[in-house]
Amino acid sequence: MSSQPVLEIRGLDKSFGPVQVLHHVDLTAHAGEVTALVGDNGAGKSTLVKCIGGTYTADAGEYVFDGRPVHITSPRDAADLGIEIVYQDLALCDNLDIVQNMFLGREKRSGLVLDEATMEEMAAKTLDGLSVRTVKSIRQLVSSLSGGQRQTVAIAKAVLWNSKVVILDEPTAALGVAQTAQVLELVRRLADNGLAVILISHNLNDVFAVSDRISALYLGRMAAQVKTSDVTHAQVVELITSGRSGELGLQNVNGVTA
Ligand SMILES: Nc1ncnc2c1ncn2[C@@H]1O[C@H](COP(=O)(O)OP(=O)(O)OP(=O)(O)O)[C@@H](O)[C@H]1O
Ligand SMILES: [Mg+2]
Repeated sequence: MSSQPVLEIRGLDKSFGPVQVLHHVDLTAHAGEVTALVGDNGAGKSTLVKCIGGTYTADAGEYVFDGRPVHITSPRDAADLGIEIVYQDLALCDNLDIVQNMFLGREKRSGLVLDEATMEEMAAKTLDGLSVRTVKSIRQLVSSLSGGQRQTVAIAKAVLWNSKVVILDEPTAALGVAQTAQVLELVRRLADNGLAVILISHNLNDVFAVSDRISALYLGRMAAQVKTSDVTHAQVVELITSGRSGELGLQNVNGVTA
């Protein structure tokens, strides 16, 4: 396992008006690893990744990327660093085909016209590199795809841009058993290809199946960051539901000490 994290967040605070949603949150992601981000509904997982992705600007906190301090204040800043997020509410356009979706807003041009051949080639190569074989044609409309295939396209879109960190917000939430297995395999492959993957999931079976590390958020605080192999299912459930599990986690959950 690599030691230096690709992405390191320290002391991140985020409030919406008077409500503080994230409290001094630390998070690290390592190349070649899947870091599962777990926590109950409303714990702050999506807010945290939106801060990382530049959709929200954190009120305080440090971002270190590849060992350098960086500032992320827009999605463009995050994308320039190689951070891509596949959001919980999938941002794919039904009325466009796979290639159009993958290049939406970042189309390749040759002079004034779209360079369809290059885009098709890049899309096909990316899907191929991820061993995606269930999609019949890359010119298929996204509306004709299954939930799992859509998720696959959204993930492929995220890795198309030489990304280094890919964050997936509940990629299997709406999927059946077989499609979940396919998407999890894809998640593992992303890490095996050298990416740092952050996977938000409520499903602990998925978390244990695919992650190397687990970061547990509890009421906007990072309760624990552990290696998956060092904890049990029951301990993670406790971290999620009460912020601590024996020696692990927040030792004073009502106060602010971690
Ligand atoms: N734009 C916003 N304005 C005000 N409050 C917000 C906003 N977005 C999120 N919140 C609040 O922040 C808290 C954390 O929400 P968030 O969506 O990050 O949780 P989550 O861990 O992703 O939950 P889930 O598992 O349900 O997706 C919640 O209490 C939510 O109501
Ligand atoms: Mg969420």
